[in-house]
Formats: sequence, C-alpha cells, structure tokens
Amino acid sequence: MGLRAIVVVAVLGVCAACRTAPAPASEPDRLRDEFTGAYPEQATPNGTVREFELVAAPTEVPLVDGKSLAVWAYNGQVPGPTLRIRLGETLRVRFTNKLPQETTIHWHGVRLPNAMDGVPYLTQAPVKPGETFVYEFTPKDAGTFWFHPHVRASEQVERGLYGVLVVEDAQPPAYSRDLVWVLDDWLLDESGQIVPEFNTRHDLMMDGRWGNTITINRHTDTVLHARPGERIRLRLLNTANGRVFVPDFGDLTATIIAVDGLYLRAPIPARGFELAPGNRLDVDLVFDHSSPTPFEIWDRFSSRRPNRLATVELDGEVVETPRFPSPAHAKVPRWSEGLQEPIAHTFRLNARSGGPFGIAWTIDGVAFEGHDHAMAMAPGAKLVRGKFARLHFINESPRIHPIHTHGMFFRVLARGGTPVDEPYFRDTVLIHPREEIDLGGVPTDSGTWMMHCHILEHAEAGMMTTIAVEDP
Ligand code: C2O
Ligand code: CU
Repeated sequence: MGLRAIVVVAVLGVCAACRTAPAPASEPDRLRDEFTGAYPEQATPNGTVREFELVAAPTEVPLVDGKSLAVWAYNGQVPGPTLRIRLGETLRVRFTNKLPQETTIHWHGVRLPNAMDGVPYLTQAPVKPGETFVYEFTPKDAGTFWFHPHVRASEQVERGLYGVLVVEDAQPPAYSRDLVWVLDDWLLDESGQIVPEFNTRHDLMMDGRWGNTITINRHTDTVLHARPGERIRLRLLNTANGRVFVPDFGDLTATIIAVDGLYLRAPIPARGFELAPGNRLDVDLVFDHSSPTPFEIWDRFSSRRPNRLATVELDGEVVETPRFPSPAHAKVPRWSEGLQEPIAHTFRLNARSGGPFGIAWTIDGVAFEGHDHAMAMAPGAKLVRGKFARLHFINESPRIHPIHTHGMFFRVLARGGTPVDEPYFRDTVLIHPREEIDLGGVPTDSGTWMMHCHILEHAEAGMMTTIAVEDP
C-alpha cells in the first residue's frame, strides 16, 4: 500500500501536465499580502457622531440667466448640501422623503455595512413618500464621496438629487482652501425647464442622456478667484447621467492626488483623466506669479467639441504657499502577478431589443428587471471577503459603460490584455466600445452589492447585477 502511494507520487512528479498546472497556492496569498495596509479593512469609530437632516422635495432654484428651474433637491439646494466629517467620525443622517415617488439614498464609493448602502429591496425597504429613514455608519476611508437616490435614478438624479460627502483626513493637509466642484449637465427645453421625458429611446440607444447645459455647482459661468500663492484642493465629481468630462488644466500646476476618494501611490499630472459619471478626482492646484491669468479650464472628452468649464482669475494679495508633501503617497498594490490569477468571473456587456423600454442593456445576457427582483436573481459573481479576485469585462457593445461596484474598490490590471498600472484604486471605470478590461481587488465587506453601469439610462434598462461577497 505504502509503496504504491510512493510510486504514484513519483509518476506525478515527472508528468508534463504538472509543469503547466495552476500557479502555486502561494500566489493569491502574495496578492493578498500586497494589499494588506493599502486601506483599512475595519472602520475605527472615534465616538463622535455627526448628525445631519436631509429632506428630498420638489423645489425651484435659479439656473441659467437667473430663471427659475423646477428641480427635485435635498434641503432645497442643487447640488445638495456637502456633508463634511472627519475620518473616524460616525455619520447619522435622518432622511425624509417629500417626493411624489419612493426613493433611497446610496452612498457612492463609501465602504459601509451592507444595510446602509441604500439599495431598495436588497438592503432596505424603499422610503415611501412621507417616510423617514436613518442612515448611520462610520466611513472606513477619507476622501470625496457622494450620495444619490437608487430608485428611478435616471429621473431622480437628473432632476437634481445629489450631494457630496467629504470625509476629511483625521489630520487634513494644510491647503489654503478645499473646494468641491460638482459637474453636471442638464437637458433643458426652450422654456429653460428640465425636459420631462426620461429614458428615451435615443438616450437608451446612445450613451444615456447628455444635456445641453453644463454646470459646475449649478452655475454655467464659474470663475475661480485665486490669490497668488494659494494651494487649493479641488474636488471634482461628475453627477451627470451620461456625460464624460476630461478636465484640462492646461498650464496650471495641477496634479491628481485622489481618484474616487482614495489617495494615489504618487501624484500624477492632471491630464487626460476620463471623469465618467460617478467618478471623483481630487486635484492639487498651486498658483504662483507665473500662473497664467485669466485661464480657462476645458473639458476635452470630445476633441471636436470641447466645452469651457470654468475660468481662473488670479488676483488679490500674495499669500504664502502652504508647503507640505503631496498627500498622495498611499500604498497601492501593483499586483503585477494579478493577471496570472484565474478569472473569478467574466462579465459580458451588451444590449438587445425588448424589455419595458424597447431596448434592454444586459450583463451576461441578462437584463436586470428592477431592484424588487434582485433577491430572486442569481448574483452576477461570487467573491470571498478578504481574498484577491480578478474580474474580466468584455464590452461587446458599441457604446461606453462606466461600470461601478458598490462596497468595494478595485484596480485596473489590464486594458485590451495589455497590463496597465494605474497608481490608484477606483469604484467606477469607463469601458470603451468593444474594449476588454481586467480588474483586481480585495472585497472587505460581506453582503450582496450592486454592480452596474453608471450611465443611469443603461442601468435603468437592465445593465445592473449583483456581486455576492461571502465570508471566508
Ligand atoms: Cu452612484 Cu449604484 O451608484
Ligand atoms: Cu452603460
């Protein structure tokens, strides 16, 4: 008996197949080890609870030419209020729905307990008109996040429901100023009001609803007045339903320090970043005597039709430039062996005719039928908490899809099979027509999480699924 076992081992030892056997078991552990310390796996509440009240309701705000625009808004403002807390603090939001529809609040990019994720039916009951729901969680990460409804989002977000959550570092770097720019576009009719037809055939066939009026913090003519010497942290967020922005800071001294909330491994020039719906970009802007003024910041997503976003004017007294090293020195794994890992799941993005809108956007051939069916659907993928996972995406369609994962960050490992080393994590990545990409990540929170296209019309018409993260 013993002899026979030895013989079998010996034979296996020389078999040719063994040499092409899967990578040794230690490899996923290496990927996991590389991740350890990249960002905290647990929240560390410091005992301070910061309370906010949010009310969603129809209202009117001034828009272009001071005309009044009928919107749906949080606390009567568009963008909604910027909630600012510090890392370690607990956020408690008492939310009341005064809309004519059900709604929820999703905290985009925030790693939080699944029950606070704001997905109707999946993580909570929808908040009915007149009802109140309390969201309470301690963010695990400092950074720029946002919140928006997860019910009929293509209508509710478009009507003006979004706000910003800034989680400052426990010790914020000493910028002269910390500014938030919410980029959006509006589809307005001749009377200057929001075109009330949502999820049109055109929007569904193309890249969602692209507006005719681009705004920053709801204004069309943004001027940033800076003083020579100032060093500004500018937090950009794209809340548009479909439009992608590529902000061009030209000759300004501008570096990207954070993407989707999290600091980079090292700062990179603020050039060419595709700020897709859902994405955030934190830019470190330094002004001095040689800074050009006035200076225009452009959106160059379309090289044929660039859009002027804002003007910078340098004026006033010279101030001393705050000198501190860039906060962008996070541990961001390279995961150079990540592409040798077996693929946990391949997602195929496509469309077909049919469904309630005439066109259905699909993931793996399946169109999401609404959050009320989510529990009955098989998850799009199953991952294990704390374990490195490689996900593969094939965009079989001729349109763009900014894919967003709830509850987890990932890193782009490859585009079109070519390894890339973006020095940052993301929660949303733009996948171009016919493009294939590989993502790597380590989920830190158990539960069933949404994954969907952040072109809200595509999501509404089916391009959503779930990722189940199971306990090890
Ligand atoms: Cu901002 Cu489900 O997304
Ligand atoms: Cu899409």
